[in-house]
Amino acid sequence: MSTRRKIMVTSALPYANGELHLGHIMEQIQTDIWVRFQNLRGHECHYFCADDAHGTAITLKAEEQGISPEEHIKKMHAAHLEVSQGFLVQHDNYYTTHSSENRELAEQIYTKLEANGHIAQRSIVQAFDPEKQLFLADRYIKGTCPKCKTDDQYGDNCEACGATYSPMDLINPVSVLTGATPVPKESEHFFFKLPEFSDFLKGWTRAGHLQDEVANKVAEWLDTDLQEWDISRDAPYFGFEIPGHPNKYFYVWLDAPIGYIASLKNFAERNGLDWQEYWSPDSTAEVHHFIGKDIINFHALFWPAMLHSAGMRTPTKVNVHGFVTVNGKKMSKSRGTFINGQTYLKYLDPEYLRYYFAAKLTANVDDLDLNLDDFVQRVNSDLVGKVVNIASRTAKFVSKAGGELAPTPVDPELWQRFVVASESIAQLYEARSFSKAMREIMALADAANEYIAAAAPWALAKEAGREQEVLEVCSLGINMFRALMIYLKPVLPELAKRAEAFLGETLDWNSAPNYRSGAINTFKPLLQRIDKDQVDAMIEASKEEAAQPAATGPLADEPIAAEIEFNDFAKVDMRVARIVKAQHVEGADKLLQLTLDLGGETRNVFSGIKAAYQPEDLEGRLTVMVANLKPRKMKFGMSEGMVLAAGPGGSDIYLLEPDSGSEPGQRVM
Ligand code: 2FM
Ligand code: ZN
Repeated sequence: MSTRRKIMVTSALPYANGELHLGHIMEQIQTDIWVRFQNLRGHECHYFCADDAHGTAITLKAEEQGISPEEHIKKMHAAHLEVSQGFLVQHDNYYTTHSSENRELAEQIYTKLEANGHIAQRSIVQAFDPEKQLFLADRYIKGTCPKCKTDDQYGDNCEACGATYSPMDLINPVSVLTGATPVPKESEHFFFKLPEFSDFLKGWTRAGHLQDEVANKVAEWLDTDLQEWDISRDAPYFGFEIPGHPNKYFYVWLDAPIGYIASLKNFAERNGLDWQEYWSPDSTAEVHHFIGKDIINFHALFWPAMLHSAGMRTPTKVNVHGFVTVNGKKMSKSRGTFINGQTYLKYLDPEYLRYYFAAKLTANVDDLDLNLDDFVQRVNSDLVGKVVNIASRTAKFVSKAGGELAPTPVDPELWQRFVVASESIAQLYEARSFSKAMREIMALADAANEYIAAAAPWALAKEAGREQEVLEVCSLGINMFRALMIYLKPVLPELAKRAEAFLGETLDWNSAPNYRSGAINTFKPLLQRIDKDQVDAMIEASKEEAAQPAATGPLADEPIAAEIEFNDFAKVDMRVARIVKAQHVEGADKLLQLTLDLGGETRNVFSGIKAAYQPEDLEGRLTVMVANLKPRKMKFGMSEGMVLAAGPGGSDIYLLEPDSGSEPGQRVM
C-alpha cells in the first residue's frame, strides 16, 4: 500500500460580479473529479475555493443594485455555492477573499515582500474620471483608435486594427462610467519587483510544476524583459488597505490567490488541521491549482515569485485547461449557448454534464467543445446503453435465483481484464487524462455487453436445468458492472450511490479486484436517458435570459453609453404601434406575445414583460417599437421587432406610451 498523500486542491476563485457559466462549471467538475478520485484511493485530499470578492467591478455592480458591496458579495456567494453544489462539486470550504483570514495573510505576505526589498514605490499618471472621482482601468475608457481611427474602442487596444496603446492616447476618450472626459492624474503606486525573480522563475517553470505547453508559453514571457507588477490601487477601492500606506489598497489580483490559503486556514481552524503544514517551505503536502489558460501569468509567474519571497512553499502543480466552446463556437448569448449553471440545472441532470466533460477532458490546454447532439448521444449510449444496461440485463436473473451472487467468476480471463484495469485507469485519472480513462472504462463496458449478449442468459433461462449457468453468467455481469461503477465513481457520485444501494455496499477503489459474492438488492432503474427536448428547452431559456436586459439590473444608475453618430441613430426605425392583442406564452416564464398594428402592417413580438402586465390591460394601448430589428427566431416563434420599456426590471417595467394623438405607424424621432 502506497503512502497516504496529503493534498490541497483549488480551482480558480470565481469573481463575485457574475453568475457561474459552463466555463466555471467545467473547471470545478474537472477539479472535483480529481479530488474525489484521490480520496477514493485513500489519500487525504481537500478541495478549497472561494469567491473573488474585491475590485472596482464589485463596487459598480453593487451600486447598480443600490446595495453595499458587502451585501452584493454575500448574495453572489450564496448563488455560486448553490450552483456548484447543484453540479455535485464537493468543496471542503467555499469561502470568500473578503475575510479576516485573507486580510491577515495578505498583510503578512506583503510585509515580507516589502521587508525583502521586493516592493518599489513610484508615482504614475493614469486616466481619472473627474465626475466619479475614480481612476479608470483601461476597460472603463472608450474612444477612437489613434491609429486606424475606428470609433468606440477600449482603452488598451483596438479591436479593428489590433493596435495597443495607453488610454490617454485615444482620440476623444470618454469614461464608460459617466461619459466624462478622463483627465491625467498622478498618484503613488506600489510595484512587485518581478524582474528580480527571473532566474528563480526560469528554474521553477521547468521543474515539473507546469504542463510542457504552458512552460513553453511562460518561457516566451521570461525571455522578454519582465515588468514590475502594479499591486496597488487608490481609494476608493473595495479591498484591503495596504498596511502602513493609508488610502492605498491591494489590487484584487494580489489577494486573490492568497484567498486559496485563507480558505484552507478557515477550514483548518474549524477542523483541527494545521494549515501551515501545507504552506511551510519544507512542507511534504501537495498543492494543486486548477485554472484556465487566461490566468497563467498570475499563477505561474506572480504567485510562485510572491510565495518564494515570502518564504513559503510554491505549488506542486498548476494545472491549466482550455475554454469551453458550444457546438464548435465561442459561447454566445444570442445563440443561447452562453449557458449559466443555474439554467442547465433547471433542465438537465448534473451527472450528464459531469460525464460528458470527463469524456472530453485531457491533460492539455485545448479548448473543450460541448457539442449538444454528441452530448445527448454519448450520455445515452455510454451511460444508459452500456454501463447501466449491464446491470439491468442481468440483475433480474440473480433475483430469480434467490438474490445471491455466485462466488467465483465463470470466465476468469474476462474478469481479470476488469481487475488489471484498476491501475491503468488510476494512472489516467492521476494524470488528468480523464477522456482516456473514460475510453478505457467504456471499452470494458463493451466487453461486458458482448459477453452477456453471447451468453444470452435470457435464452438459457428458458432451458431446464441451466439455472446455475444463468446465475454464474449474471453474477459475472453484476461484478463487471460493480467494477465499472467504482471506476466511474469520481465522475458520477450520485449514480454510484444508487449502485451502492443496489449492491448493498460502499464502493471504494481498493475493493475493485475483489470478486463480490453474497446478496444484492432488487434492481431499480438507475438513470434516465436524456431527451433532446430538454437540451432545446435549456438553449431557449438561455436565449430568453440574454434577451432580458431589464432582468439584469436597474437601468437608471447605469452610465450613459459612449456617444454615437447621428447616422447610427437614424438607422433605428422606431414607430408608434397599437397593441391589438396580448397573450401568455405557454412554457415561457417571462414572455408575453404581442400582436402589434403598425398602421396597416401587423407584427408578432415576444417581450419580457410578463411580470409587469396582465395581457388584457395591454390590449388597445399605444406603445413604441423598433420596427426594423432583424426578426429573431425564438422557441415560441418569430419575434419581429421589439417594444420599448423602462424600469428596474421584474414587475417594475413600464412600456413607453406616446401621447394620445399619435397614430400607429408614425415614426418616432
Ligand atoms: O479570472 C478570474 O475569474 C479570477 N477571479 C480568478 C482568481 S483565481 C485566484 F488567483 F484567486
Ligand atoms: Zn485601430
